[in-house]
Amino acid sequence: MASFVYLQCMLCRKGYILVGIAQSSCVVPGPKHLPGLGNALEFQRDPLGFVTRLQRTYGDIARFYLLGTPVIVLSHPRHVRYLLTENPQNFTLREVMGDLQAVLGDGLLTIDGEPHRQQRRMVQPAFHKKRIMDYADVMVRHTLETLSRWRPGQRIEMAQAMQGVTMRIVAKCLFNIDLANQLTKLSTSFSTMMESQPPLYEYILNLHLNLPFTAYGRQQRSKAHIDSVIYDLIARRRTEGGDQDDVLSMLLFGDELDDTRIRDHIMTFFAAGHETTANALTWTFYLLARHPLVLEKLQAELRTVLAGAVPTSENCGRLQYLEWVFNEALRLYPPLWTMRRWARAAFELDGYHFPAGSVFVLSQWIIQRRPDLWEDPERFCPERWHPDRTQPIVPFSYFPFGVGPRTCIGMPFAQMEAKLLLATILQRYTPRLLPGYRAIPQVRVTLRPGDGVPMVLEEAR
Ligand code: HEM
Repeated sequence: MASFVYLQCMLCRKGYILVGIAQSSCVVPGPKHLPGLGNALEFQRDPLGFVTRLQRTYGDIARFYLLGTPVIVLSHPRHVRYLLTENPQNFTLREVMGDLQAVLGDGLLTIDGEPHRQQRRMVQPAFHKKRIMDYADVMVRHTLETLSRWRPGQRIEMAQAMQGVTMRIVAKCLFNIDLANQLTKLSTSFSTMMESQPPLYEYILNLHLNLPFTAYGRQQRSKAHIDSVIYDLIARRRTEGGDQDDVLSMLLFGDELDDTRIRDHIMTFFAAGHETTANALTWTFYLLARHPLVLEKLQAELRTVLAGAVPTSENCGRLQYLEWVFNEALRLYPPLWTMRRWARAAFELDGYHFPAGSVFVLSQWIIQRRPDLWEDPERFCPERWHPDRTQPIVPFSYFPFGVGPRTCIGMPFAQMEAKLLLATILQRYTPRLLPGYRAIPQVRVTLRPGDGVPMVLEEAR
């Protein structure tokens, strides 16, 4: 029997009615929700648990409500393939990136269509294989500089250390600047800007309270500080003139972009280029500390392959076990744990009809931990990446860097950086967790380990 379904779009606030095609059996299943609030409270309380339960209870296509907006959670690898690689032109992220766009502006992560294609092509040379190999020296140099401040027995906050070193690397490789003197303040500003999400009531009431003690106020002050650093960088470069063959030069001398747009790109590269990698590295150290046998095996590989030599882009390619360890850490703790999309035109999927304007979430967190796709999915097991493994990896069941035309442009950069940093640090130190410490994922746009992951440095054997 045909039924009528009323939906409301989160962004344009327009309501629309699905007629006829919406057989009652075709209404996407999901939990009960409160009028107005939807499932926002449950989602905000425990986002990871909430979306996992949603898939386990309601299946591969489930919906919940965030305030007045139905959000469809797609949890099967074929959905990843369909949205991101087979029909990416029908799914934009621009309409559902309001929170990120407010701070990042119109950078590569938040624009789409022809401008996205053109501007991605413009900066792509900075991420070619040869260029990434050139960055290796900078990556190792900054890691060694960090190590020069560490001592055996010292306690460090791993998350903070990784934020610092990855930010300096991205600044030097992409914009040829040394952030040594501004690092602490800039790093704090980035953290505050990305973390300060207004509480639910501020969001619901659409309050933008720019006061010293509100989340919105903190976010605005941090953004203003970062903006001043970026605009200063642009102005200096314009005065100096000359092509320095880095991303900043590509932006200045490529398509004609005004300073605001250049600022947006720089802000995006800074944010996307250090926060994600820093989280991935911190989670990797955490997992290694909790799995001493894996750590021993990895350090044995470093001793055998590197024999005490400094890691380079060349010798890193032979560290197979290290690669598996990093893949596995990204499977369990994907720094970007969901991807959001908005349908431009109506379409059918798995027997459901979705109107234009439907909002979708594809979650790495759900799909990369599905028990029917991953044997013993909660276990940290680098060996599952062995090419002769018994259970092959199901295509599109692993996508920490996304897939399709919007795949992370920084993927080869991040992979090289992570391997070099892990190898350089673990050659010298065995970071141990404080007794009883357990990291609780802090869920924002990214998945951070809460409490900064305090660790004590032991000299490596
Ligand atoms: C472990 C580290 C990283 C992870 C897990 C990661 C993950 C991702 C994912 C999932 C996307 C796709 C988002 C979407 O389509 O909704 C993305 C896009 C992007 N990433 Fe990364 N990223 C990492 C490191 C980096 C680095 C090092 C850079 C820059 C140096 C970077 C720059 C970008 C940019 C600019 C985009 C937008 C690309 C586009 O839409 O064309 N990322 N990243």
